[in-house]
Amino acid sequence: MVKSMETKKPEPAKPQGLSEPPEIGASALPAGTYNGQVVLVTGGGSGLGKAIATEFARLGAKVAVASRKQEHLDAGLAALEEAGCEASHVVACDIRDADQITAAFNEIAEHLGEVDVLINNAAANFPVPAEEMSPNAWRTVVDITLNGTFLCAREFARRHIAAGTPGAIVNIGASYAWTGGPGFAHSAAAKAGVKNMTETLAVEWSPYGISVNGLVPGLFPHEDMTADIRSSLDRTNEKDPCQPALRVGRLRELGWAATFLASPYARFISGHTLVVDGANWQRRNLTMPAVVTVREQMGRGPFLAE
Ligand code: HXC
Ligand code: NAP
Repeated sequence: MVKSMETKKPEPAKPQGLSEPPEIGASALPAGTYNGQVVLVTGGGSGLGKAIATEFARLGAKVAVASRKQEHLDAGLAALEEAGCEASHVVACDIRDADQITAAFNEIAEHLGEVDVLINNAAANFPVPAEEMSPNAWRTVVDITLNGTFLCAREFARRHIAAGTPGAIVNIGASYAWTGGPGFAHSAAAKAGVKNMTETLAVEWSPYGISVNGLVPGLFPHEDMTADIRSSLDRTNEKDPCQPALRVGRLRELGWAATFLASPYARFISGHTLVVDGANWQRRNLTMPAVVTVREQMGRGPFLAE
């Protein structure tokens, strides 16, 4: 007779989320992929733009950064030097102004050569209930995020089409282009415009050898976030457990995506928008947590008509 043995059930495995990426400095692209190429990153002196700019630098690019504030330009230059950038240049420019954009491209051409890759990263955003948004607040965000992106793309394409040279554009977007963005009506509408425009420009300019793609970051917290955006994020304390990946994005993951999309290995990819967010924007249940109005989320009292 066999004695029944008490079998201990194994502990169920805990969900681990999506694994951490390789360390900074690693790359899926061969070293020197961007040797001799000039890359312009708008808003490349802070946050995600800075991370993207330095990743191009690591792969051999000459990198230019354009934005308004001297502190951001200084920070961009320092980060590029630290990353061992072959040659770099920073230029003050408000992307709402077509003449300033032309002047910036001319200045970069003088210092580094004509821009081969344009990363349209600069954008504007702050949380505000739609009913309280002033006309100028709406206009300002749309003007920087949508109009500025178009004007930079246009300047880039005009130069390449006239010269008969190829190029690559990557427009940085946001996932609320698809879903809408409660509390961010201006930015969500502008980013929807950027995604749509990416598709149009890709068709118009692929015949001239210019690829146009979009890159959408998920949640990538960083130390340069504006106080407005940070305060909006601070309403939830724990970020990692609220993402399907069980973690937020690491800045280098966005740099790798941008350098791939603009690279020779992605030349047949155009008009595509790549989302790097660990599936966060698809997260949806039939019943969601109870609705909290944007006003309540922002700790505002009732709306009082003037
Ligand atoms: C309501 C506001 C406001 C706020 C500005 N305004 N901040 N309204 N709530 N928090 C209004 C002003 O009152 C004014 O309207 C109008 O907006 C323009 O403001 P200015 O300060 O004159 O504009 P300007 O100096 O051009 O600065 C632009 C800016 C600023 C957008 C307001 O924040 C900026 O420079 N931002 C750049 C960096 C940035 O936004 N980064 C975020 C990207 S992150 P009135 O009517 O008074 O004249 C991102 C993340 C997406 O996009 C996903 C997040 C999870
Ligand atoms: P950020 O640090 O605030 O960077 C925005 C940059 O845009 C700044 O360097 C700013 O530089 C520049 N800029 C703003 N207005 C400008 C103008 N009129 N002319 C020229 N430059 C201007 O924000 P971020 O988080 O890195 O965001 C970068 C991009 O990622 C944006 O397109 C954003 O919408 C997108 N994004 C970010 C997240 C995230 O989690 N962080 C999520 C989704 C999408 P100056 O102030 O010097 O002009």
